[in-house]
Amino acid sequence: MKELKALEGKKLTVVGYGSQGHAHALNLHDLGMDVTVGLRKGSKSWEKAENSGVKVATIGEAVKGADVIMILAPDESQPELYRTEIEENLKEGAYLGFAHGFNIHYERITPKKGTNVFMVAPKGPGHMVREIFEGGHGVPCLIAVHNDVSGDTKEIAYAWANGVGRKVGVIETTFQEETETDLFGEQAVLCGGVTELMQSGFDTLVEAGYNPEVAYFECVHEMKLIIDMVYEKGFAKMRDSISNTAEYGDYITGKKIITDKTRETMREVLGDIQSGKFAKNFIDETENGYKFMNEERAKYSDSKIEAVGSKMRKMVFSK
Ligand SMILES: NC(=O)c1ccc[n+]([C@@H]2O[C@H](COP(=O)([O-])OP(=O)(O)OC[C@H]3O[C@@H](n4cnc5c(N)ncnc54)[C@H](OP(=O)(O)O)[C@@H]3O)[C@@H](O)[C@H]2O)c1
Repeated sequence: MKELKALEGKKLTVVGYGSQGHAHALNLHDLGMDVTVGLRKGSKSWEKAENSGVKVATIGEAVKGADVIMILAPDESQPELYRTEIEENLKEGAYLGFAHGFNIHYERITPKKGTNVFMVAPKGPGHMVREIFEGGHGVPCLIAVHNDVSGDTKEIAYAWANGVGRKVGVIETTFQEETETDLFGEQAVLCGGVTELMQSGFDTLVEAGYNPEVAYFECVHEMKLIIDMVYEKGFAKMRDSISNTAEYGDYITGKKIITDKTRETMREVLGDIQSGKFAKNFIDETENGYKFMNEERAKYSDSKIEAVGSKMRKMVFSK
């Protein structure tokens, strides 16, 4: 296939077989590319990867002799992994890929001289990257080149993105832009912003004495239906589809919820990402054994909203 030409005849290695790893490896394998998955000895993913038809080797073995290596282990584990298993096995002129700019942008990994460095960041969670591909479609990808020794690193990035995302759309960016916008989007809007918004709406209704199941439908379940319309058709068409009552309430109330103070906080959040403060705090947290994150996980898994959600999902998805 023309769009994958730069990868044809090359040995491709995907390090890690988690959310992104399985999607990159399987999508490229399905398109006829020569893919090996690199995993640590005794990895719980070894059998799963082998059963899906890709070659599997230890990380060192998989990197040795590979032309293109995509690192898809968690961001916080990549610097040590690079130092201990990847660097010494990288051949001269290899192409080293990332799906997020974090470790290059914050200089936690400095690839050795003579290495091409690129990024292909699919704009979707790994499991959706695979599911959408299996359905015959793809997700858009951001690509960037940090180091181009061979003079064709951009072609490698395009080809990898075309394979993983089925050439749905590729946008060129930089490691800095991808890192800062990705961190901001997930914290302020997609993950942090949206979950707190849903949680606060649910709590407000429940505290006022309304049935938690009804509150869940209104503030959580229906989020997907509205967002699906925005995803497919944009804000205007979504507003076309909702009732005039809902649309009037949208204009009147949205700005009371997201106030100037919220926008100011968003700028502060962005400032902490740009200065590296967020990255430092996250690294400290990982070195502290994820203490804060484990406390938060326990708190949420025991929460009322999750208990109600579990019951509602059984009702909605059981038929
Ligand atoms: N999650 C997403 O949807 C998403 C979206 C866009 C970009 N990204 C980026 O993609 C990259 C991978 O993220 P992810 O969420 O896909 O990771 P993930 O699912 O947490 O990665 C798990 C995989 O990494 C391996 N792994 C974990 N720690 C390791 C270590 N210390 N040494 C070697 N292998 C290790 C695991 O091995 P075992 O199987 O042996 O446990 C497993 O195969 C990150 O740079 C992330 O920012 C992720």
